[in-house]
Amino acid sequence: MTLSFRHLVSASQVTRPDADFLMERAGEIVERVGRGEPLTRLKGYRDACRDKCIASLFYEESTRTRVSFERSIKGLGSDIVTAQDFKASSLYKGESIWDNTKIMAGYDIDAMIMRHQDAGSAQVAADALDAFRHETGRHVPFINAGDGENEHPTQALLDIFTIQQECRKLAGLHVAMAGDLKFGRTVHSLVKLLSLYPDMRFTFASPQRLKIPDYIREELVRIGIPFTEVSTLEEAIDLDPDVNYMTRVQKKRFEPDNLDEYERLKDSIVLKAPMLKGKDNMVIMHPLPRVMELDTAVDALPNAAYFRQAANGIPMRMAIIREMLNVQQVSGESDMWYQRRLDPDYIQGVI
Ligand code: NCD
Repeated sequence: MTLSFRHLVSASQVTRPDADFLMERAGEIVERVGRGEPLTRLKGYRDACRDKCIASLFYEESTRTRVSFERSIKGLGSDIVTAQDFKASSLYKGESIWDNTKIMAGYDIDAMIMRHQDAGSAQVAADALDAFRHETGRHVPFINAGDGENEHPTQALLDIFTIQQECRKLAGLHVAMAGDLKFGRTVHSLVKLLSLYPDMRFTFASPQRLKIPDYIREELVRIGIPFTEVSTLEEAIDLDPDVNYMTRVQKKRFEPDNLDEYERLKDSIVLKAPMLKGKDNMVIMHPLPRVMELDTAVDALPNAAYFRQAANGIPMRMAIIREMLNVQQVSGESDMWYQRRLDPDYIQGVI
């Protein structure tokens, strides 16, 4: 199967067949590793990206996402070049994402993975790679590893994979998401992916100030997916969801002017082990890192799935990269993006 997207900027590009296919591939990796095959020596994977070079650019803080991407790249036999830390990069000197991306592409890379603090930066990089393709004929796939408070599509793919493993299904689930639903990009991408599955139902638990963005709420109404909004975690747990997906309050999105507000909101949603008494079937997830919203006493519960969730980052990212680099056919869509790039307002507006 060929994936329907050439760049992975948003979870809204992922179709149900794409998601099912990637979960099947990731599941196969997990199974083979479980049978004792070393991750870096999996036939069909270890040489899949041999002679390729992938750029891993993390301009915003990361540990899990960066390391699991880099481990995945090595598991596919690819070479890697990296940039980390905004302040150590030319972006700090004032270079645009557009220019930066074109330069990377010109260094003969075969794919580009980027995390950046600005919402929308991923789309600019993908557009720049399309302009590069227009000029050179060479397609360089782009993968969004988190763009500000906007999206984190590869996390959402590993999250639905984890939910499928833990619940043995994806259809007919009730998923609660709790914490900072406004700035938590993983939640935005996850709602979009879960909405591909039938009979999904959501509960969103957050203080008023950190509610899920209007555009997501409006989209759920439009496509007819039921959801409930509550302001405490207790209320969400009382509704007995199959999955309770916790998130931290994103301190960085409050800095530097609003730290008082962060202090006020940071402990508003906290999961403690006693709250889960009698809730043995409720799968507890968290994209991590946790700060104080998830008590470490929860870790000992069999339904605490967040470390298994983090481990799924490698098989899912190996699957994503392998399949995205396999794409032979590219559609004409990029030409449209290229035209958009030629519009000076667009250039001024986004870079
Ligand atoms: C998340 C992120 O960066 O958005 N972390 C991750 O990638 N696993 C969640 C977070 O930082 O809170």
